Amino acid sequence: MSNTFLPFHQPEIGPEEISSVVETLESGWLTSGSKAKIFEEDFSRFIGCQYSVAVNSCTAALHLALEAVGIEEGDEVIVPTMTFTATAEVVVYFKAKPVLVDCRPNTLNIDPDLIERAITTKTKAIIPVHFGGQSCDMDAILRIARKHKLYVIEDAAHALPAKYHGKTIGTIGDITCFSFYATKTITTGEGGMATTQNPDWAARMRMMSLHGISQDAWKRYTKEGSWYYEVVRPGFKYNLTDIGAAIGIEQLKKCDAFGAARARIAATYDQGFSDLSEIETPVCESDLQHAWHLYVIQLNLDQLKIDRHQFIEALKEQGIGTSVHFIPLHLHRYYRESFGSTPEDFPMATEIYQRIISLPIYPKMTGSQIARVVEGVRNTVKHYRR
Ligand SMILES: Cc1ncc(COP(=O)(O)O)c(C=O)c1O
Repeated sequence: MSNTFLPFHQPEIGPEEISSVVETLESGWLTSGSKAKIFEEDFSRFIGCQYSVAVNSCTAALHLALEAVGIEEGDEVIVPTMTFTATAEVVVYFKAKPVLVDCRPNTLNIDPDLIERAITTKTKAIIPVHFGGQSCDMDAILRIARKHKLYVIEDAAHALPAKYHGKTIGTIGDITCFSFYATKTITTGEGGMATTQNPDWAARMRMMSLHGISQDAWKRYTKEGSWYYEVVRPGFKYNLTDIGAAIGIEQLKKCDAFGAARARIAATYDQGFSDLSEIETPVCESDLQHAWHLYVIQLNLDQLKIDRHQFIEALKEQGIGTSVHFIPLHLHRYYRESFGSTPEDFPMATEIYQRIISLPIYPKMTGSQIARVVEGVRNTVKHYRR
């Protein structure tokens, strides 16, 4: 077995991205400009949505989305506990309250049956997170949202390219937010995109992403632009640079191929672990296209002599990098102290958290590296099974 460490993630950057960046650097226009516009247009075409607003992170997109639909102090927004803090922290930016909801045991997605119980007169929106790249039960979520007149802001940080019953993620909820962070299916280093079919929300997000100054403010240094601008609202500084967009334009061309490569690795893992009762492989629901951002195994700890941490250490000793997605929000100090959440409030996420490990899954992995992960997991199970 090779001694070289296999990292949990490595981006797939080709000569196309490199020359696109060099061309942008040489163009003399580095910040948001024509490349960001092209990236937005390409993204809208790829997703099949009306409007795409390029920003510098998914967190920024989520913040802008909540601002656009009018979240205010004192409102409540439903978010899953099984997510990254970004999903909930943006709610706190408004002095609104993130109301956590437990996950389903199979997909680890938010449990729609529990959403309805969390709704109060203050609830204004739901932020479903497509965990690992597999769509939430959007029919159920949209039904609840319509019944209670709630906005649906999808956190699709993991879900590119992904589909739900034939519909592309990015065309379903009111606003959908994507991430181009380094580990995501496509990357711009740091970056994100908000998609919507609503022209008012798109315009609002665009304006607020650049200080809340009047439209096309980015043009003010161009020949067509004017020095005059007006500040309409106190906005944010969330625009995506043309350097990032230059990478994104090239990455997007490869997005389907990247998705297919991840799906092939997932299928190899499924096959490689199919005879091991000590681990559960991810459950895929029917009629979905999974983006396979994450491949999360669940350990059956009663069949093993080691815990999850020791399992991760055993894989590390074999040169395999892993991660854990996620430490549920209700177990973090901030959420415990601010909202008084206890492990018992979210029994499913609390229990599953003890047993989950995310394995490496990215297009740059070679056949022998994928085989190494399968072998590493199998060896660990064989060595530590009861
Ligand atoms: C579910 C989820 N939402 C949001 C984010 C934030 O994405 P970004 O780093 O682009 O702000 C992440 C980051 O990994 C995430 O996993």
